[in-house]
Amino acid sequence: MRADQPILLLDTGVGGLSILGPVRKRLPNAPIVYVLDQAGFPYGQKPEMELAARVPALLGRLAEHVDARLAVIACNTASVITLEPVRAALAIPIVGTVPAIKPAAEISKSRVIGVLGTKSTVRQPYVDNLSREFASDCTIIRHGTHDLVALAERKMRGKPTDPQDYVAILEGLFSQPSGDRIDTIVLACTHFPLVEKELLAAAPHPVTFVHGGDGIERRVEHLTEGQPWPDSPSPGRAIFISDGSDPEALRPGLAPYGLEILETL
Ligand code: DGL
Repeated sequence: MRADQPILLLDTGVGGLSILGPVRKRLPNAPIVYVLDQAGFPYGQKPEMELAARVPALLGRLAEHVDARLAVIACNTASVITLEPVRAALAIPIVGTVPAIKPAAEISKSRVIGVLGTKSTVRQPYVDNLSREFASDCTIIRHGTHDLVALAERKMRGKPTDPQDYVAILEGLFSQPSGDRIDTIVLACTHFPLVEKELLAAAPHPVTFVHGGDGIERRVEHLTEGQPWPDSPSPGRAIFISDGSDPEALRPGLAPYGLEILETL
């Protein structure tokens, strides 16, 4: 292991920044490569089979390309569908981001929990299993939305978003039977914590938001314990798997996360 070997994070867009933020705080000198698979965007509306083929192949190529020491699938959709095939395909440790149903069940008083994710994530058996294992005495109400992914992408490009859009999205949870008793919402898509403030303002009553990113930085620290790191922070690399759009539009949004080198593949 060399000190300059990076941690690789993958998402389709800006969502993984909600994971990168805490990772950088805990490991400030860690070299970072952040991959935006814009050509595959949105994962949340892709057939499972397509993701199960795409993500392991892409991560495998990239991990080799940048000589990564560890990879984080900084996307719930990709994690719940492809974690197993990715782990089978790559020789480095893989950290997934999965819906935070367990921590939600630990804090919910009303025992009614909302799960907000992409359409694909909320229908996965992975969510059924987490609910059965960790929240069997809770009512779990799910809502899948792509609109919130699009709003987070807009916000990170410095574009305005309409507060009413967040109200309408949350309606998808609160209007379901028992929805008025939801006191905890799992943000089961890495894009969503980026608009948590807007969601809080839009909620009809106080709720607590939890997300799968909580604790990932501790997992990364644990898995890299004892490994060498550079003596000081270095600029992070953002690699765009391009959909043809201009990466420069995201430069101001990426800079606060230390991503200063923008590359297109
Ligand atoms: N950020 C991804 C997730 O956590 C979703 C974005 C997409 O649909 O591409 O599920």
